Amino acid sequence: MSLYVVAKGLASFVLPAALTNRGGGRTHSARYCYSVYLRHLVKLAEAGLPTAPRAVAEIGPGESVGAGLAALIAGAERYVGLDVKHYALRPDTLALFDEIAALFRERAPIPGGAEFPTIKPELRDDAFPSRILGADRMARALDPARLDALRRRIAAGGAESPLGHIAPWHDAGSVEPGAIDWIFSQAVMEHVDDLALTYRACRDWLAPGGAMSHQIDLKSHGTASAWNGHWAYSDAMWRVVRGRRLYLINRAPASAHRAAMRAAGFAIVADSPVIRRDGLAKSRLAARFRGLSDDDAATAGLFAIARRADA
Ligand SMILES: C[S@@+](CC[C@H](N)C(=O)[O-])C[C@H]1O[C@@H](n2cnc3c(N)ncnc32)[C@H](O)[C@@H]1O
Repeated sequence: MSLYVVAKGLASFVLPAALTNRGGGRTHSARYCYSVYLRHLVKLAEAGLPTAPRAVAEIGPGESVGAGLAALIAGAERYVGLDVKHYALRPDTLALFDEIAALFRERAPIPGGAEFPTIKPELRDDAFPSRILGADRMARALDPARLDALRRRIAAGGAESPLGHIAPWHDAGSVEPGAIDWIFSQAVMEHVDDLALTYRACRDWLAPGGAMSHQIDLKSHGTASAWNGHWAYSDAMWRVVRGRRLYLINRAPASAHRAAMRAAGFAIVADSPVIRRDGLAKSRLAARFRGLSDDDAATAGLFAIARRADA
């Protein structure tokens, strides 16, 4: 445990909440947003799920709604981003829209590890996914009149805008039940304090047959030098480290995510854990993590797709 980690937690008890959690991810970059959107789309296709969602929601978009803009540009009619913090979103949303549209027009390859070293999920092939986003579909999606209309409606804002951003969101009532075809999140579900509520809300928002995909980073996020060092803190010490920040990490292992998804009414249709055998030995973890199975204790990340179990 480092003094810095403890000091940061303690400082959050006296700082105003707005000054905590200043970094909201990497979505200021158009190429990052394009990459995230296409990575999830490719994985949906690999799982044999529909890849032309009409209405898309994202949990935790962070500093921009760029992945949502990518969804709209590629053909969706509606996007809703739900976050706990209203970051100063990239102010030039329309410029971001144009940058992402240009990437689609070029059929740019999916930006990968050389540019974004930690980006996941990993793909077998970084080429533009022409088998999913074929010529006809892209011609319709990129039709200049369609993109112009989207831009104008986004700029006008209000109820007619195809782009919604709700922050902070609190409960399932934030979105109408059954309204969404696909929900995704990138590097968010490890931060969510109430996993049961959030996965249940996802279940409520999805239309019959709807699916969700989540890239989850289960590592210690700077709270320890070992990737699994966050599981070594006692609950009492963790309360100090967590402090009063809006969010930190929930320390839920992969098994807890899977269990919460199933309890919320999902069937898991794709499950790709990232396994690491380095880090602290299980005997050095706090009592409540020592009982994790060997595989669970070695799972440093998870990409999961789940579908409404009644589909
Ligand atoms: C590491 S950032 C990732 C942002 C973005 N998805 C990206 O890939 O860069 C984590 C995000 O999760 C959001 N977050 C934390 N708890 C949340 C919750 N309960 N519901 C929605 N978003 C949450 C944070 O505000 C932040 O935007």
